[in-house]
Amino acid sequence: MVTVTIGNKGIAQQNAKCLAFVVEQDFAFSSELKSLAETYFPALEDAMKSREFTGKAGSSLAVCGSSGDRIIDLMLVGIGKKGDSSNIDIEQYRRALGRIVRGAESRKNKSVAIQLPDAALFGVDNHELAKQTAIALHMADYHFDEFITDDARKISCVSDIILVGDNVDASGVETGNIVAEYVNTCRHWIDLPPGKLTPPHLADEAEKLSKKNGLKVKIFNEPEIKQMGMGGLAGVSSGSHQDCKLVVLEYDCGDKDAQTIAFVGKGITFDSGGLSLKPPAYMETMKEDMSGAAAVISAMQVVAKLKPKVNVVAFAPLSENLPSGTATKPGDILTFYNGKTAEVKNTDAEGRLVLADALSYAVKHYKLDAMIDLATLTGACAYALGPFFTGLMSQHPDFASKVKDAAKRSGDRVWELPFNDDYKPAIKSAVADISNIGSKRYMAGAITAGFFLQNFVEDVPWVHLDIAGTAFDVPDISYYRPESATGAGVRLLVELAMNWK
Ligand code: BES
Ligand code: ZN
Ligand code: ZN
Repeated sequence: MVTVTIGNKGIAQQNAKCLAFVVEQDFAFSSELKSLAETYFPALEDAMKSREFTGKAGSSLAVCGSSGDRIIDLMLVGIGKKGDSSNIDIEQYRRALGRIVRGAESRKNKSVAIQLPDAALFGVDNHELAKQTAIALHMADYHFDEFITDDARKISCVSDIILVGDNVDASGVETGNIVAEYVNTCRHWIDLPPGKLTPPHLADEAEKLSKKNGLKVKIFNEPEIKQMGMGGLAGVSSGSHQDCKLVVLEYDCGDKDAQTIAFVGKGITFDSGGLSLKPPAYMETMKEDMSGAAAVISAMQVVAKLKPKVNVVAFAPLSENLPSGTATKPGDILTFYNGKTAEVKNTDAEGRLVLADALSYAVKHYKLDAMIDLATLTGACAYALGPFFTGLMSQHPDFASKVKDAAKRSGDRVWELPFNDDYKPAIKSAVADISNIGSKRYMAGAITAGFFLQNFVEDVPWVHLDIAGTAFDVPDISYYRPESATGAGVRLLVELAMNWK
């Protein structure tokens, strides 16, 4: 793991293998860069010209230089231009930091010093810039190679990053370090093979961490879940030898007048589709189907540490979805915790079944001011929005706008889908209260799944986030890695809780 600290000298005085500058398009050389170029990189301006490097968003330039017996790499990473009336999107900065880390890895630079840009370019303050810097650097460093035995194939990671600048905010770096630690914990759980990360294993991990961080923990086991009447969670789990679990975590902010918000996350540790078995190519990455649960459990750890002024409760229904002689069958009817029934027409639409019980439990046992759920719920959402935006559905515009603001600031971007009552009849059933899949005529599988969930939230202001496209294997974003988890939602949830009013 990389450590991110603040340097107390100028970048030229840093004893790092790589010196990196984040630069605007058509930037002028700072005095530090000028003097470094004179000493180590006399060909810098020629290299910039011949490689047409001007600091455009997404661009990078690396050169190697030496003086005496010191050899250093210099990296310039571009973030583009500030418009007359618009700031540079801070996402460009996160990706520039990602490119610095990737470049350093490929050159085997163990230590990197980074000259930070002016926070005003992005319209944020120094605290926010420092926080976003630490988060992006740790996220870029994250890698999952514990099962690779060939040392030559292991990533050569950066071990020290020093941040240099006039006003690098120490508390911002500290906060960012905490957020990133748990974004990466979330990613690690998702990346673990489904044979290791089973419902009992994730519940144990959640319990251990939550107790350490001072959260209240309650974990229901399969007999308790059945006894309580959670027919959705029990029904999905019935094909599996692993016990299902419902993890409940509570953070109490200590103010008796404070509001309470709920985080709910889908936790299918492997989704084979059940008897409505998925084709092999679609099953390949289905260890990712507990990404919502991993996100809410991880976000709660940050909440426990950063202590926002709002109570937060989290619910993670955990199960496998497997076929067997005891599995739920198409045509079965399940009864949920709130007494409603659903016809299971397709056992691969299992996420909504486990969430139904978790949402019902949350609204029955807590006086909630808002509730947000995160789920790798539908392939339809992934097809509609692709890997860069999480689908947001809500009929509560005030709460939805809080979530959208948190999404924008955090980097976990969302896009709102129409969540109109016109879609509601799609989930009618002839034999039960509702059906677990939408009728073909209505299409819009992401939205009809959202309307299924709406049956379990009572009148609590509620936002549903479909992270099927954003949780895993997102291309082209330098601080993620291919075929690996992104931690989608953790940053957003933390931002939401920390700014609750
Ligand atoms: N876990 C899947 C959705 C998914 C797909 C997540 C791709 C991540 C990437 C979910 O349980 C599922 O299988 N949904 C079905 C619903 C359908 C049967 C109505 C789907 O999307 O095909
Ligand atoms: Zn499924
Ligand atoms: Zn699923």
